[in-house]
Amino acid sequence: MGLSRRSLVSGFAAGLGYASLRGTELLARTRAGIFQRGRAPIDLSVVAKINNNENPYGPSEVVVEAMDSAWEWVNRYGTPDGGLRAGIQELHGVERGNILLGAGSGEILDVVGTTFLLGGKKVLGAEPSYGQVYSHARRVGGGAILRPLNPDNTQNIPDLVEVANQHASEIGFVYLCNPNNPTGVVVPEQDVQQLLDGIPADMPVLIDEAYHHFIDDPAYATSIPYVLEGRPVIVTRTFSKIAGLAAMRLGYGVAPAEIIEKMSLFATGSQNVLVKFGGAASLRDLAGQERVKALNIEVREKTIAELRAYGYEVISSQTNFFMVDVKRNVREVAQEFRPFDILVGRPFPPMDQHLRVSVGNADEMRRFMVAFREIFPAAANAAAA
Ligand SMILES: Cc1ncc(COP(=O)(O)O)c(C=O)c1O
Repeated sequence: MGLSRRSLVSGFAAGLGYASLRGTELLARTRAGIFQRGRAPIDLSVVAKINNNENPYGPSEVVVEAMDSAWEWVNRYGTPDGGLRAGIQELHGVERGNILLGAGSGEILDVVGTTFLLGGKKVLGAEPSYGQVYSHARRVGGGAILRPLNPDNTQNIPDLVEVANQHASEIGFVYLCNPNNPTGVVVPEQDVQQLLDGIPADMPVLIDEAYHHFIDDPAYATSIPYVLEGRPVIVTRTFSKIAGLAAMRLGYGVAPAEIIEKMSLFATGSQNVLVKFGGAASLRDLAGQERVKALNIEVREKTIAELRAYGYEVISSQTNFFMVDVKRNVREVAQEFRPFDILVGRPFPPMDQHLRVSVGNADEMRRFMVAFREIFPAAANAAAA
């Protein structure tokens, strides 16, 4: 009887006492882990962790099955990638040389910073936005020129264009988070065009599309076509959000080949084989993406409607998080949610009174609303019950 490699692997695992626990079964445990952060352990079967914009549903079964199928490679170097690169190429209509893989899109953001800011240049972008880009800029000896949002929380494109031109010699690249974290607001297609047409033609622009998959606003469009035109644009995507693989660490950047070549000098080039197979499967799993998107929109809009009816202003969001104006310092407010076993928010200066809330599952958001009503009085303009 011929023994397949797969059955040898599972026999070996059984010998070690792992028996037949496969990813699909282990997945059931992802909602109930205990993790330690700071001093107190946090039991995820009790705590609603709605502070990091994660996917509360985890990866789909087909994604987990694909990861399971990759176990047979874990002791090797130079393994297959499960069709990941081919899948990304096909999705965007780009060549192999237009893609840089990272351990999360966060790695690509850092690589862009290291590539374009060495020698003390600065990143130009809005504030608040995804702060890692700005803190990394400072860590590599560069800096950040930060410009305020408009009063309606959109990014001020004419202002960014003006500053980019005035300070062109100091600027290493422009950062545009679309949609923006922490506000959840998109930069419409026309505004991206206005930015790219208005700044110096050779100025690199990093467009962070981490939350691309959640959007249903027709005014938004991906910026990948600018890469195809050969503009100095780097678009980043992640498998942490829609695909539910945050802890597995996979993301990528798409850019003209000469930019990818420069950037790859600073990238680790190292992603684990399990997530490559899972990532490839998630690109093909459009039904799974659609499920997460639909659930996110349903739960988000219900929660936002309840907050508004209770008299609180919420910034309309196109992502898996939103901001509610609590009219008090959010550092204190986040502490007040802790006795309810709810983790929310942190300050995003200068929006210190806007609490950022990630969209958890329906039960987590129900619990969030119960706690919110306990902590905050109904505002004067609350809809009559
Ligand atoms: C706007 C934005 N970009 C990038 C990332 C990095 O995500 P990851 O490194 O998991 O791909 C995040 C994570 O929350 C984010 O909010």
